[in-house]
Amino acid sequence: MNEVILKLKNFSLSYKTRKGILEAVKNADFELKKGETLAIVGESGCGKSSLARGIMRLFPRNLEKVSGEIYLNGEEILSLDEESYRKNIRWSKISMVFQGAMNSLNPVLKVVYQVAEPLMVHMKIDKETAFKKAKEILSLVGISESFSERYPFELSGGMKQRVVIAMALITNPQIVILDEPTSALDIITQANIMNLLKLLKKEFNLSYIFITHDIATASELADRVAVMYAGEIVEISPAESFYYKPAHGYTMMLLNSVPTLKIDKKLRSIPGTPPSLISPPKACRFHPRCQFVMDICKIKEPPMFKKDEEHFAKCYIGESHE
Ligand SMILES: Nc1ncnc2c1ncn2[C@@H]1O[C@H](COP(=O)(O)OP(=O)(O)OP(=O)(O)O)[C@@H](O)[C@H]1O
Ligand SMILES: [Mg+2]
Repeated sequence: MNEVILKLKNFSLSYKTRKGILEAVKNADFELKKGETLAIVGESGCGKSSLARGIMRLFPRNLEKVSGEIYLNGEEILSLDEESYRKNIRWSKISMVFQGAMNSLNPVLKVVYQVAEPLMVHMKIDKETAFKKAKEILSLVGISESFSERYPFELSGGMKQRVVIAMALITNPQIVILDEPTSALDIITQANIMNLLKLLKKEFNLSYIFITHDIATASELADRVAVMYAGEIVEISPAESFYYKPAHGYTMMLLNSVPTLKIDKKLRSIPGTPPSLISPPKACRFHPRCQFVMDICKIKEPPMFKKDEEHFAKCYIGESHE
């Protein structure tokens, strides 16, 4: 699992807002390997969905600027013209389950039609073939033929989530971005969907970018974890190091705020509120909330330090920085 399928270099994205320019993603720099699940975790508003939609090149009207490079199988795709991107990349190579998608299924269209639609619209495949493929994929995600002829309101939350997963897979992509795919579901249904995602990954040889604010769900699926704070990726490491050897002050405090059954520990919440991305704190963006803050954190932006094999963090903790 060492072949790099997707690589982001200095990827940044900002929006125009009434209060000024909001930089939702700043200098994201990471790789996704073939067959890998990379989890992206971080609190609400830190830029996870902006990053995901940015990779899909689905920008809102108030986009101010997007910059950097995105390589898919070695080919730079951020500079491709929209026509080529739409024809050759979006959905066919990289697809996405949008945050809250299960609640935005079209209420007046049968499920099978909605799953077939990406094939008909993006791939220009005829209706009969698209419906046949839609039924196959629906059955694979656990929706029987009789349910595929129903309308979204007749399905449970878990079933609707299976439908939107089927929609993301029908175009046979190599990479699937899953934006909070289980957040709105009860815990048993969550577990079922996670198992389904694991199964599908094997079946279709997929690579996942799995976005969540829920650390427990990330642990289920992730090979590596990237932690995002205030628009920046501040730590990236193998999943095990993320849990047992966090290197960034934010990650440490994040893990301390999560209840665990086995370890008897005092839960601490993170004081303060997430910063404004219009005028974020200088130097380390987390310094005003960090319990480990040092003078340097307030003055100089930390570089991405190599903390261990495959483990990087933008944090001065444990570094000599005189
Ligand atoms: N179209 C937009 N115009 C202006 N600001 C936006 C736009 N979309 C998102 N934002 C802002 O960008 C920041 C990042 O938002 P984003 O939705 O990417 O965060 P997120 O990490 O996905 O949050 P959540 O966990 O709540 O889904 C937030 O401050 C948000 O308010
Ligand atoms: Mg989001």
